[in-house]
Amino acid sequence: MVKAITESDAAALDLLLDKVYRDGGYDFREYKRGMVTRRLERRLRVAGARTYLEYMWFLDAHPEEYQRLAEDLTIKTSGFFRSSYTFLQVACLVLPELVVHKRMQDERQLRIWSTACARGEEPYSIAILLADFLGNRLPEFEISIYASDINRQALSEAREGIYSPKEVENLPPATLKSYFTSNNEGYLVNSNIRQMVSFSYFDLVSTNPPPFANLDCVFCCNILIYLQRQLQKKVLSIVYDSLATPGYLVLGEVETPTDSLRPKLECINTKAKIYKKTGNKI
Ligand SMILES: C[S@@+](CC[C@H](N)C(=O)[O-])C[C@H]1O[C@@H](n2cnc3c(N)ncnc32)[C@H](O)[C@@H]1O
Repeated sequence: MVKAITESDAAALDLLLDKVYRDGGYDFREYKRGMVTRRLERRLRVAGARTYLEYMWFLDAHPEEYQRLAEDLTIKTSGFFRSSYTFLQVACLVLPELVVHKRMQDERQLRIWSTACARGEEPYSIAILLADFLGNRLPEFEISIYASDINRQALSEAREGIYSPKEVENLPPATLKSYFTSNNEGYLVNSNIRQMVSFSYFDLVSTNPPPFANLDCVFCCNILIYLQRQLQKKVLSIVYDSLATPGYLVLGEVETPTDSLRPKLECINTKAKIYKKTGNKI
């Protein structure tokens, strides 16, 4: 049986997380410890390890375990239009302003980043929102939705774009009919939506500078909650640097923004936590 994890294991846990970073390339050192220890228990059980030290030996003997561990430590729960309130606010407050701004600048490119895209529900929801909002003006824009995550399994499922009946059950029938095709495997996101989204591996925690610049909008939803405060600040600074001026940051209903954001961004919806980078002093 796996030994209960107590405070005295904290030093061993530090060593284990250092090792996972150094040898496996995954940096969970500043994730919230409660979540990490709960999820580690499962990996220890599967590995037959009774202590963190034994699990470190197991990692040495089975390097493929690093990726499995990373997958178990990341929570990929998501959903289409997961916070319907947030998506509604994006449609009402962000997209109209953004489209007017693009027209005034005579620009056709719309570039959006879904920073922790899990199995793709969030970036595909963004693409569907844009298709609905723009309607027959859609071809006037070149839309790029960059979707990234560190869970490789989730990314590969996201690329396939096939969802079970349960996963699409909350979508309005008209959305399902317009943007999905049902087949033997489930509901496939239609190609006009899929082609707006490109998926890639990107670790928000270990990489700086950001992989994208001059983005019109960044979604950073349901990821900061798993990180310790200091790391939340770091991630938000990467995200901030990736935004254009004007550019919009969407955190969603669940996240609590760090104080460091307030002087830099104008809050345009407190509940959905939508912010605008204006470049002006606020
Ligand atoms: C709960 S899901 C959120 C999915 C989606 N954003 C939403 O709001 O429904 C959290 C995602 O964050 C990803 N994640 C965790 N740490 C990450 C990191 N350092 N860089 C990028 N993605 C990360 C996980 O793999 C997981 O897919």
